[in-house]
Amino acid sequence: MAVKWAPDSWRGKPIEQVPEYPDAKELADVEARLSGYPPLVFAGEARRLKRSLADVAAGKAFLLQGGDCAESFAEFHPDNIRDLFKIVLQMAVVLTFGAALPVVKVGRLAGQFAKPRSAPTETIDGVELPSYRGDIINGIEFDAEARIPDPKRMEQAYNQSASTLNLVRAFAQGGFADLHRVHQWNMGFVADSPLGERYTDLANRLDETLAFMAACGLTSQSAPQIRETDFFTSHEALLLPYEQAMTRVDSTSGDWYDTSAHLLWCGERTRQLENAQIEFLKGIGNPVASKVGPATEPDYLIRLIDILNPENEPGRLTLISRMGADKVEEVLPALVRRVKEEGRHVVWSCDPMHANMVKSANGYKTRHFDRILREVEGFFAVHRAEGTHPGGIHLELTGKDVTECVGGAQAITEADLSDRYHTHCDPRLNGRQALELTFLIAERLKEERSNGHVNGVDKAVAATI
Ligand code: PEP
Ligand code: CO
Repeated sequence: MAVKWAPDSWRGKPIEQVPEYPDAKELADVEARLSGYPPLVFAGEARRLKRSLADVAAGKAFLLQGGDCAESFAEFHPDNIRDLFKIVLQMAVVLTFGAALPVVKVGRLAGQFAKPRSAPTETIDGVELPSYRGDIINGIEFDAEARIPDPKRMEQAYNQSASTLNLVRAFAQGGFADLHRVHQWNMGFVADSPLGERYTDLANRLDETLAFMAACGLTSQSAPQIRETDFFTSHEALLLPYEQAMTRVDSTSGDWYDTSAHLLWCGERTRQLENAQIEFLKGIGNPVASKVGPATEPDYLIRLIDILNPENEPGRLTLISRMGADKVEEVLPALVRRVKEEGRHVVWSCDPMHANMVKSANGYKTRHFDRILREVEGFFAVHRAEGTHPGGIHLELTGKDVTECVGGAQAITEADLSDRYHTHCDPRLNGRQALELTFLIAERLKEERSNGHVNGVDKAVAATI
């Protein structure tokens, strides 16, 4: 008989990428306090996201997920949250208006703090220290004291997540996201570029549409969809003591929900079927996701789906393909085909960031815009060929004018990287690069519709039913 799942079931499973806290008593005290703190999100909201993702799985919507690689305590500022919110709204409007598809907006924020690392230690000038694992675990400074895992950081991360979410909710529902403000989301450094002009063009057309709709009686007052938006949160469920403490029974359904975010995902390094992170995600009612890298076999993928979505519930599971520009067209088709043949309902999303990392000649971790673009193009091509819906995009991006990824219309060079390289972990697209990529995706989605692939059903098939 199957053993009943509980929020601590993961503790009996193999686990990787976890810190060793030196003081077990202090860790237990923090966990106990956290488990008494208010939930950050409600189960009903997580269910609403699941319903929206079910629309994505059915080919009727598009998922836009993005934000920092790692949030940090140092960069915690309302302007940073506002600028990320603005760029996501801009991208969503380009996609919705350009491709005539509803966009489900999910931030990598209000909890995206813990990082998996490729090596447990880091050596600089002959000094070896434990790796930095994200601000929720230890400090980024290269000194022995800072690198000791400190459980109290979980409470600081919780508090930062709570105030971030508070601001995001206010932005989403307090008038800032009103479509009449579409011009104000265009930030200075973005507006001041050919892409910014292209956006202004689109915003002007949207103004005309809104004026037409107002004449028909649909205004911000009468239609909340014009005035406000849904903005959901997500992060990698890596630091399980934190996730367990935030997991509560929902009084409406009697099910367990991880109230630290609406959606939780499993990273590429921890998605082994027997692993603790998969065990944890299996039992929560939230929508969940898993990264899917270039070594993935179709049989493994079906077993992963069996574990994470045994009821084949649409919207429950998102598969985030992160293959690399060179591998996507080689590896993804067999996976997509198998999932389709087995009739599994999933959202296919594309993370064109994590398998396209390189080191620049001057020592920066960076990503080339053209490779990111190539992976996205490959992802769309595979879905076009397989007759499936390219459901979403997963990006590391910031609203700020950083120089972390090279290329794009702005032509950032390796020599430019040192100008404004601020990330705490992986290099992010800046606002202009993110918008440039979005225009391209909108075009591909439009083609998907006009090529006869509408709402996940081929037009020729649709005509016969
Ligand atoms: C991430 O999303 O920041 C990440 C570490 O990705 P992956 O697990 O795909 O390497
Ligand atoms: Co990253």
